[in-house]
Amino acid sequence: MSLYAIGDLHLHFQTELKTKVQLKGRGWRNHEKKFLKNCSRILTDEDTLVLVGDHSWGKNLEYCEQDLQFITELPGRKILTRGNHDMFWDVKKTARLNEMFAGKLEFLQNNYYTYQDCALVGTKGFTFEGPFYIDRRGYIAGWDEEAEAHAAKIVERERKRLRTSFEAAKADGYTRFIMFLHYPPTSVIEESSVFTEMAEEYGVEQVIYAHSHGEARFYDSIHGEKNGVLYRLVSGDFLKWMPVKLLD
Ligand SMILES: [Fe+2]
Ligand SMILES: [Fe+2]
Repeated sequence: MSLYAIGDLHLHFQTELKTKVQLKGRGWRNHEKKFLKNCSRILTDEDTLVLVGDHSWGKNLEYCEQDLQFITELPGRKILTRGNHDMFWDVKKTARLNEMFAGKLEFLQNNYYTYQDCALVGTKGFTFEGPFYIDRRGYIAGWDEEAEAHAAKIVERERKRLRTSFEAAKADGYTRFIMFLHYPPTSVIEESSVFTEMAEEYGVEQVIYAHSHGEARFYDSIHGEKNGVLYRLVSGDFLKWMPVKLLD
């Protein structure tokens, strides 16, 4: 019995694919088949898999049916968090999704789940990704202030949602935490963020994140241990479509 994670499946069984990375990027050809093969090799019905956002390109639930069915049919228990491309998932309707997929999929948002004595908490997160203005020597000389102000609002909303998830688990007596974000915990220009601070505040053991896919983005944020917290990128292409084990 083990806990695994992976993110950014970007399934498109009912959607025409338009993104260059996925059409031409190394490692994306038949990626869902590679992923399925890996899952059937390592996962059993006793295991739990957390899927860390960007599940489907579908523009609404109707266009995600086959993608979510694909996830439903994977072995074991499946917990999903929201990614920026998950248009089918309105935060306010999370309870409705949990009702619709009861016994099949679990949707983590403003709630928490458990694995043994560990609370699994999380939210989409957010980082300011520019646009940055780069000078001739390649240094960042400034950035779009309007985009930065907009990002700050989303970060604040996500910070509150993450706190809600932590507090729900804490109120039920949990002291061990694994924290899931879709976005990296820090942007390319940050050393820390409200998300890393919250991870340290609650004594989180591992912070799991995705969103950074394509080789150029793999090292945008923290990898490995920092201030007692283990940070792990689990984007599917980074993991070559093999879910990573978080806990036995
Ligand atoms: Fe993605
Ligand atoms: Fe994403």
